[in-house]
Amino acid sequence: MDFRSVYSADHLARMLVATGAKSGPLHHRLSTGIAELIDRGELPPLAVLPAERALADALLVSRTTVVTAYHALRESGRLQRRRGSGTWVSAATPGSKRETVSGSELAGDHLASSFLNGPLATVDFANAALPSLDLVADVSAGLTGADYRALAMDHHGYHPRGLPTLRERIAAWYSAAGTPTAPDEVLVTSGAQQALELIARGCLHPGDGVVVEEPTYRGALEAFSRQGSRISSVPVDRDGLDTDELDRVLAGGRSTRLVYVQAAANNPTGAVCSENRRRRLVAAVKRSEAVLIDDTSLMGTTFRGDPPPPLLTGAGDRVITVGSMSKLFWGGLRLGWLRAPSRVISRLAQVKGGTDLGTSLVSQEIARRLFDHIDDAAAERRKGLDAGFATLTDLLADHLPDWTWAEPRAGASLWVRLPQGDATHLAQVALRFGLALLPGAVFSAEGRTDDHTRLPYALPPHVLQEGVLRLARAWRAYTDGGLREMSLTTAVT
Ligand SMILES: Cc1ncc(COP(=O)(O)O)c(C=O)c1O
Repeated sequence: MDFRSVYSADHLARMLVATGAKSGPLHHRLSTGIAELIDRGELPPLAVLPAERALADALLVSRTTVVTAYHALRESGRLQRRRGSGTWVSAATPGSKRETVSGSELAGDHLASSFLNGPLATVDFANAALPSLDLVADVSAGLTGADYRALAMDHHGYHPRGLPTLRERIAAWYSAAGTPTAPDEVLVTSGAQQALELIARGCLHPGDGVVVEEPTYRGALEAFSRQGSRISSVPVDRDGLDTDELDRVLAGGRSTRLVYVQAAANNPTGAVCSENRRRRLVAAVKRSEAVLIDDTSLMGTTFRGDPPPPLLTGAGDRVITVGSMSKLFWGGLRLGWLRAPSRVISRLAQVKGGTDLGTSLVSQEIARRLFDHIDDAAAERRKGLDAGFATLTDLLADHLPDWTWAEPRAGASLWVRLPQGDATHLAQVALRFGLALLPGAVFSAEGRTDDHTRLPYALPPHVLQEGVLRLARAWRAYTDGGLREMSLTTAVT
C-alpha cells in the first residue's frame, strides 16, 4: 500500500500563494517557492507532485517553466523522478526540517502559514486583520510597577481558566447585556483561535458531523478538519446563514455534533444574522442533538445599522459562545474567551491546561482594563471601517467596474465575486504583480467558493490604492490570457 501524499496541481498552486512574491525568471520563482515548501516541511518527504502539464495549467505558465523548475529541484536534491512514476519529494532533502506539518484535505491548506511568516508580498491583501487601536497602548502604558508587582504577588502565574478578575469582568459584561453569566461559565483563551481548537479537541471525535457556514472563517475549518470531522456547509447571504438549508442538513440521515456560525458578523462576508434568522437558527438547533458554536469574534465591528446582541439566546445550555479582543482592540493581545455551561468550561479548561497552562496574566490584566472602553473602541472601529469600505469600493468602481460584492454590515473585508474565471488562478497572477490575494476556495470546506476573493479594507488609503491598481493590472493580464508569454520583469512593477 502506498502512504505517500499526493498533491493536486490546484492544491500546490494555493500553497505557493503562501510563499509570497519572488523575483527573477519565472522558472526560478517557481523552483524557489517549491523549495521553500519542501524546506519548511509543508511538502513532506515522498509527497507526490502534480504532472508538469497540470501544474503549468494551474499556474498559468508554460510547461517548459515547470520542467525547468522541477529539473533545478532535482539538481538540488529536493525532488526525484522516475519515468512512469512521476515526481516526488526526496526522502531526505537538503534543507528540510525533521518535523512535517500533517496535511488535511482542505483547499488552500497551509495558507495560515502566511500569518506565521510575515507579509507575503509588497502589498498584502491576504490578511484582513485590524490595526491596533491607540487605546491599547494607552491602557497598557497605564500599568505601573505596583500593578505588575500585585499581579506577581497575588498569583503564581498559572491559571488555566483565566485570571479570576478578568473572568468576573467578562461575566459581568454579559450579565449587563441581559444574559446573567457566572465567572465559572467563562474560560479565557489565547485568542478565539485557541477557543475553537479547544472545542474541536474537547467535543469532537473523528467522523463527527459539523455544519459550517459557506463561506466561513478558515481557522475554524482547519480546527474541525484536524479533528477528522465530516464537514457540511450551509450558504450565507446578506441576512446570515440560510436556515431553510440548515433545517434540511440537520434533518438529513447523518447526525450532527456541532453547528458553527458567526451570527454577530461573518468573516469573510461581513453579513450580520437577522433577528428572524437568529430565532430560526436557535429553533433548528434545539430540534436536533447538535451544540451551537457562535463565534462572535467580529463583535464590535458593525458599521452599518445597529450592533447585534452579544449572545444567541433561547437554546439554553446548547450554545457555546466564542469571543475575542482581536478585532475590537488588537490581535497581538492574543486574548479570547469561551462562554459555556460550567461543566463544559471545566472540561475545556483541562484541555487548555494541558496545552499551555494558561494565557499570559499581563495580557489578561490589560484586557480586563480594556473592557471599560468597549463602547469607545466600537465607535472608533465604526468610523475607521466605514471610511476604509468607502475607499475600497470607490477604487473598485474606478478600476474594476464589473466586479460585484455583497454589502457588508460589519468586519474588515469585502467578499467580491469575479465576473469570470477563478480566484486560485487569479491569485497566482496577482503574485506576479506583487499582490498577495486569498482565493475564495479557502473559505469553503469543499473549496467551492472560488468565484470569489476576499479584499481587506482596514488598510491605509495609499495601500488600498496601490493594491487595487495591482489587482486591476493582474485582472487584465489574467483575462487577456496572454500571460504565459509575458515577461515577468514587466509584470512586477
Ligand atoms: C471568525 C473568526 N474567529 C476567530 C478568529 C481568530 O481570532 P483570534 O485573533 O482571537 O485568535 C478570527 C480571526 O480572524 C476570526 O475572523
